[in-house]
Amino acid sequence: MFGARLNPLRHLGSLGFLFFWIIAISGIYLYAVLDTSASGAYRSIDELSRKQWYLGGLLRSIHRYAADALVLVMIAHLIREWLLGHFRGFRRFSWLTGVPLLLFVFACGIGGFWLNWDQLGQFSAMATAEWVDGLPLFASPLTRNFLNAAAVSDRLFSLFMFIHLGLPLLLLFGLWFHIQRISLADVFPPRALAVAATATLFVLAALKPVLSHPAADLSQVPATLAIDWIVLFVHPLMYATSSGFIWGILVGVLFFLLLLPFLPKTRVMPVAKVDPDNCNGCRRCFDDCPYAAVTMVPHPNRRLARQMAQVDADLCASCGICVGACPSSTPFRSVVDLVTGIDLPHSPISRLRQQLQAALASPDSDRKIVVFGCDHGACVETLRDHGVAVFSLVCTGMLPPSFVEYALRDGASGVLVSGCRAGGCEFRLGQQWTEARLLGMREPHLRAAVPRDCIQMVWADAGDDAALRLALSTLRQRIAAFDGPAPLVEPV
Ligand code: HEM
Ligand code: SF4
Ligand code: SF4
Repeated sequence: MFGARLNPLRHLGSLGFLFFWIIAISGIYLYAVLDTSASGAYRSIDELSRKQWYLGGLLRSIHRYAADALVLVMIAHLIREWLLGHFRGFRRFSWLTGVPLLLFVFACGIGGFWLNWDQLGQFSAMATAEWVDGLPLFASPLTRNFLNAAAVSDRLFSLFMFIHLGLPLLLLFGLWFHIQRISLADVFPPRALAVAATATLFVLAALKPVLSHPAADLSQVPATLAIDWIVLFVHPLMYATSSGFIWGILVGVLFFLLLLPFLPKTRVMPVAKVDPDNCNGCRRCFDDCPYAAVTMVPHPNRRLARQMAQVDADLCASCGICVGACPSSTPFRSVVDLVTGIDLPHSPISRLRQQLQAALASPDSDRKIVVFGCDHGACVETLRDHGVAVFSLVCTGMLPPSFVEYALRDGASGVLVSGCRAGGCEFRLGQQWTEARLLGMREPHLRAAVPRDCIQMVWADAGDDAALRLALSTLRQRIAAFDGPAPLVEPV
């Protein structure tokens, strides 16, 4: 529906950031008009919705809906990363730093309802106090703070303020920490998606403005409440079960999430390895690595270069994107054994050159089409036949563009490069860098002299075999017709 580039499922983290900033900006205005005393809070917020609906009221509604949206995209982001198995090895850090964000987001969200000090805020604050009192943490139960109106002092309200303003600052710090080990983290969604998401909040705010319940009254139990089920679902769940049940669920879920990254790995891939004799310190691998696993250190042989790449084994995803970036990975080098500056020990670039040479030298066909694909996108093996030579790489980002030229010079009639759909690369940046390299927008780029009519790119996910076949037949037609320049990327 959205197309690959704007697919919200591929921008859940950055949508989370967007909603966080919307909450922060709308919150600053709300804070400016909020009377932070126990007696004045309700009136100041309620009047905002009624007397200044066009600005304060709108911002209040947007603040609430953005909080709901943040919770939804965060949970979806967690589920997606979990389903994709993104919690082990080099991703352990991102996963473990994500878990506390769950707590921060819910605590900030729930605390926000208390500041209105209407019946919903009263219900939420008392339910939270009852939940905390379920464990013998405090000498005096928290629920004593809600015995009567006089007990709700300005000091208690200062605590509410602290929770609702202090925790978002911790959340911001946690978010910064969360993306520390990710290069070029996607922290802002594509503009069209950002505009659409923000506009949706405005439309919701206009259609169903958030209004306060009647003012809190500790002498009464609120009879009818419009619960925000996204943020406050935990309160009805507690009354339907018990505070012990909620504690159990919380501890169980946190324990499970924190344990997941330490479960044994099914397969451990050897990490990328640098060869000092073939590294000239150009920093391309450093720039392209999606997990900041490459650092530049002084070269042991200063006559060769000033710097050399070094791989941090704990961060390396064994994706090979650095191999595709390295200028030494060119197959045109005359060396018998192609040793490059940085390589994957289990899938060296020399093997790809050998296999390519063998496929193009085989006598059964003199003009094959060469397909370079990846192990995570659509399965290129489905295209294999006597006229098509197929190579599946760990990630398409491992393909140096010079291999495309090499294949064409060595007799291939055309080259099809495939990989995961835009934004869906298993290793985050492989598809993006490959496309940019082949389009000549990123080093190492495909030389301008290489005929574009013989090259096709197709970005297709696992299961999207039809898109692969379509791209192959388009390439075949283009090669047969050769009737002028055709677009390098075929939209599929
Ligand atoms: C407020 C909530 C959160 C926000 C705003 C957020 C944001 C982000 C962003 C922007 C990225 C980088 C995406 C990219 O550039 O590829 C990311 C990555 C990641 N996040 Fe979150 N995140 C949140 C919560 C969580 C939670 C709760 C978990 C799981 C416990 C989690 C797990 C991960 C993982 C595993 C990655 C790495 C993905 C990869 O390496 O491909 N995040 N997050
Ligand atoms: S294999 Fe991937 S993660 Fe490891 S150093 Fe190379 S680009 Fe970085
Ligand atoms: S891309 Fe190759 S030559 Fe350049 S720094 Fe990395 S390993 Fe060295």
